[in-house]
Amino acid sequence: MAQLWGGRFTKETDELVYRFNASISFDQKFYEQDIRGSIAHVKMLAKQGILTEAERDQIIEGLEGIRVDVEEGTLHITEEYEDIHSFVETKLIERIGDAGKKLHTGRSRNDQVALDMKLYTRDEIKALDELLKDLLEVILQIMKQSTEVYMPGFTHLQKAQPITLAHHMGAYFEMFKRDRLRLKDIRARMNLCPLGAGALAGTTYPLDREYTAQLLEFDGPTLNSMDSVSDRDYLIELLSAMSTMMMHLSRFSEEVIIWNSNEYQFVDIDDAYSTGSSIMPQKKNPDIAELIRGKTGRVYGALMSLLTTMKGIPLAYNKDMQEDKELVFDAIDTTKECIALFTGMLRTLKFHDKRMEDSAKHGFTNATDAADYLVNHGIPFRDAHGIVGRLVLYCIEKNISLDEMSLAEFQAISPAFEEDIYDAISMKTCVEMRNTIGAPGKQAMEAVIAQEEAYLSGK
Ligand code: ARG
Repeated sequence: MAQLWGGRFTKETDELVYRFNASISFDQKFYEQDIRGSIAHVKMLAKQGILTEAERDQIIEGLEGIRVDVEEGTLHITEEYEDIHSFVETKLIERIGDAGKKLHTGRSRNDQVALDMKLYTRDEIKALDELLKDLLEVILQIMKQSTEVYMPGFTHLQKAQPITLAHHMGAYFEMFKRDRLRLKDIRARMNLCPLGAGALAGTTYPLDREYTAQLLEFDGPTLNSMDSVSDRDYLIELLSAMSTMMMHLSRFSEEVIIWNSNEYQFVDIDDAYSTGSSIMPQKKNPDIAELIRGKTGRVYGALMSLLTTMKGIPLAYNKDMQEDKELVFDAIDTTKECIALFTGMLRTLKFHDKRMEDSAKHGFTNATDAADYLVNHGIPFRDAHGIVGRLVLYCIEKNISLDEMSLAEFQAISPAFEEDIYDAISMKTCVEMRNTIGAPGKQAMEAVIAQEEAYLSGK
C-alpha cells in the first residue's frame, strides 16, 4: 500500500478499506493529464519564486520521463498505489529525490483531480466531436446521392406522405449537428482552471492562477475555490449530451433494424456489420444496431447515477465525487465506440431504392396529393378528403395502388378527375411540389445540402 498521508495514523489501513477507497484501477486513465497539470503547476511555482529554476527543470524532466516510460510500457501503473496522483509523485521522488517532494507545494489532490478530470474531459470532447463530424460526412454523402430516391415518410409507423431518402437522412443530420453544438457549449462553459483552489480555500502561497490557466489553455481561473473542487456540473452536462447522442443513434439503429427486416427490405446491412444465428442458417442479424440501441441504457444510467451522487453533497469536496470517474469514462468510451461503429455500418449500408419507392406507392402516401388535386379542381377540401377515402377503399378491395386505377374507375368515383391525375399523384410530383425550406423537394433539399456542406467545411 502506497499512500501519501500516513503521518497522523497509528494503524495500517485495513486491506478491504484500502481497496474500497483506492481509485488507481480507473484514474490511471488520466496519467497523461495528471502529468501535464503538474508540469504547468511547477512552471508557475518557479515563476513565483516558490521553487528554483533548477528544481523546476529537474521535476519537469522527471515527470516527462515517467510519461514516456508509461507510454512505452516500461513503467507499469500498479495497484499498490492509492491513486494516479500518488503513483506519479512516488515515482518522481524515487527518480529525482528531494526535489520531487516539492511538487505538491500549494496544491491538494482536490484541485488536482478537478483539473485532471477537466483536462481529460476536454480531450474527449474533441474526440467525440471528430467522430460526430465523420458521421455527418457519411450522412451528407448519402443525402447528395438520394435527392430522387423516393420512399414513404411515416407517422405512427404508418406510411404517411412520400419523401426522399435524402430528406430522411437530413433529419439525422440535424440531430447530430445539434449534438456537436452541445459539445461546443459545454466546452466553452467548463473551460476555467480549478488549479490553485487547494483543498477548498486556496493557499497561502502567492500562486499565479492566471498563469497556470493560460499554460493549460483555459480561458482563465475559476472564481470560487470551494466550487472549483466540488463542481461536477460539466460532467453531468456531458453525460446528458452523450445520452442525447445515444438516443439519436438508438433511433437511427431502430430504423436500420426495421428497414433491414424481411418485411421491409429497404436496406441490406453489410456482412461485416451483421452476425449469424447458431441454429437458424438463413439468418443475418442486425446485432451491431441492436447493441448500439441497447448500450443507450448504460449511458442514461451514468447520467442518473451522477445526478443522484451529487444531490446531497455539502460543500466542498467529499469522497462521493470519486464516483464520477468510472461512470464518465465508461459513458465516453461507450458513446465513442457506438458513433464509430454506427458510422461504419451506415457507410456500408446498401439501400434498395426500388423497394422504397414501391412501398411508398402501395401505401397510398399520395392520397393527400389526390385530395389537393380535387381542391385545385374546385372541390372543397372536406369533400375531396371523403372522395379520396373512397378511392383508397376501392384500391384496398382490389389490392392495387392509386396510380393503377383506370381513368374510368377514377371518374366513376368523381367526374372531376382527368387524365392529368396520374402525373399529379406520381411520387416524383408529390415530392417535387414540396419545396418550402426544409421540405423534401429536390430544389429545397439541394439548398439545404449546400448549407450543410458549407457548415462541415467550417465556412
Ligand atoms: N481519487 C480522488 C477522486 O477521484 C482524488 C481526490 C482525493 N482527495 C481526497 N481528499 N481524498 O476524487
